[in-house]
Amino acid sequence: MHYVYLDNAATTQVCPEAAEVVLKYMKEEYGNASSLHTFGQKAKESLEASRASIAKTIGAAPEELIFTSGETESNNLAILGAARANTARGRHLITTKIEHPSVLRAFAALEKEGFEVTYLNVNHEGFIDLAELEKKLRKDTSLVSILHANNEIGTIEPVTQAGKIIKSKSSALFHVDCAHSYGKIPVNVEEIKADLVTINSHKIHGPKGVGALYIKKGAKIAPLMFGGAQEKKIRPGTENIAGIAGFASAAETAYINIEKNAQNIARLRDMLIDEINKTIPHTKLNGPRGNLRLPNNANISFGNIEGESIIILLDSKGVGASTGSACTTHDLKPSHVLMAIGRSPEISHSSIRFSLSRYTTEDEIKHVISVLPKIVENLRKMSPVKEV
Ligand SMILES: Cc1ncc(COP(=O)(O)O)c(C=O)c1O
Repeated sequence: MHYVYLDNAATTQVCPEAAEVVLKYMKEEYGNASSLHTFGQKAKESLEASRASIAKTIGAAPEELIFTSGETESNNLAILGAARANTARGRHLITTKIEHPSVLRAFAALEKEGFEVTYLNVNHEGFIDLAELEKKLRKDTSLVSILHANNEIGTIEPVTQAGKIIKSKSSALFHVDCAHSYGKIPVNVEEIKADLVTINSHKIHGPKGVGALYIKKGAKIAPLMFGGAQEKKIRPGTENIAGIAGFASAAETAYINIEKNAQNIARLRDMLIDEINKTIPHTKLNGPRGNLRLPNNANISFGNIEGESIIILLDSKGVGASTGSACTTHDLKPSHVLMAIGRSPEISHSSIRFSLSRYTTEDEIKHVISVLPKIVENLRKMSPVKEV
């Protein structure tokens, strides 16, 4: 069996369509989109074609999309930029306890600047409480940021209902981090009533180092960087034409069969979850089952054995998974997401995230199911299981 890569929430293999496009713009059409000569104009054309094509996938107008270096930058630009540009509306901000660090740390930085931040709770499956959101909205709330789908446990938040509440009860801007939903389930900026939306390339089989931020026409945000006039001066710097073209190609490819792919991936996800639950005692799924879970996410706790040990032994059997978010791999603290849904630190440390892609096959899932029970059994012999 070849290596079974089940860490697609960390990053994905670049699809052949995108790789070919990237190579073309690196080797042959390498102009700077600001140059006046033919090479520059070709780069500019490619940039605008990519913008239009990606904007279409989320129901946005091309001029509402700004290219960035990735999701971290898009989240920082959205949150710091919107909060700082809209102090006339107020200095109260709302987010959730289970956001990615690129959101939580941006809010922490704003707290140091004198903003007040309310962190919404989630229930045992990771869902926010819409009644709590409504209660916490204030006259001076200037920004609400809620992630669409959680990167660790796959919970899909009710962002459409949240958008309705935010827009009917306040004048706050609404930012949605769609890092894990984009390209896997439908994302429509009109439906969500979002003002700011983070989308990405490297989690949908596009190249790394490129992402985008949707900024609704009329929404005010302050830049984080200063330089040339690129990207409406909101994000200056020479555009990554090859990366952006690869991003557009990956997005177009992801959207061709998005629903069929999602169904197939979800079938394999459920097969993995069900078989693990059936064959390994004392396991617990983190996050919900069914359609309110990302089709490609399975996050499971194994009791009081270390997740890292499972990962290392799985790797030795040719399977790549992770203990949660790639960004917290070197963090010894238990996952803030698992703690927020009520898991103990021991159970959190015993959790594994498997993340599938449209390239995942049934044989690969069967391979995982064939090697995992023995790995867990051997580790438990060294560390007897407590109740999960
Ligand atoms: C929900 C979410 N937002 C933002 C990011 C940041 O992505 P990147 O490290 O590619 O900038 C991640 C990373 O995995 C994520 O899971």
